[in-house]
Amino acid sequence: MNYEKLMEKAIEASKNSYSPYSKFAVGACVLMDDGSVYTGCNFENSSFGMTICAERNAIGSAIADGKIKIKAVAIYSPNQQKCFPCGACRQVIHEFCENDSDVDIILKNGENIEIYTLAQLLPESFSL
Ligand code: THU
Repeated sequence: MNYEKLMEKAIEASKNSYSPYSKFAVGACVLMDDGSVYTGCNFENSSFGMTICAERNAIGSAIADGKIKIKAVAIYSPNQQKCFPCGACRQVIHEFCENDSDVDIILKNGENIEIYTLAQLLPESFSL
């Protein structure tokens, strides 16, 4: 699936965001190495710390379906241009890739998409 289409799916997913506390909707679509895609949105809780980010929601669905190698992640928020993944999500994406340089993070900037690698966003990443 091309990255424009991946972003469209992230935009669609953001519409299901449950974010009554922050009012900051996020959608994500993860592309796995076999070409399969999974979407997720953020969902919050009145106990704030239980919030799940859109990226980790999408990745959780992929894991549940037996897919563990990420190729790309598209992230979208109607509230912010270029909604970068938070630090926790960067680390979770790192867990499910072989090489940070081979994973593309796709963001929306106006009418355009911009592509970063995970290596750019998470230099000197931690692994056990
Ligand atoms: N959020 C995400 O879904 N992904 C990120 O990478 C950054 C933050 C969500 C969490 C929370 O529901 C809202 O955005 C505001 O922090």
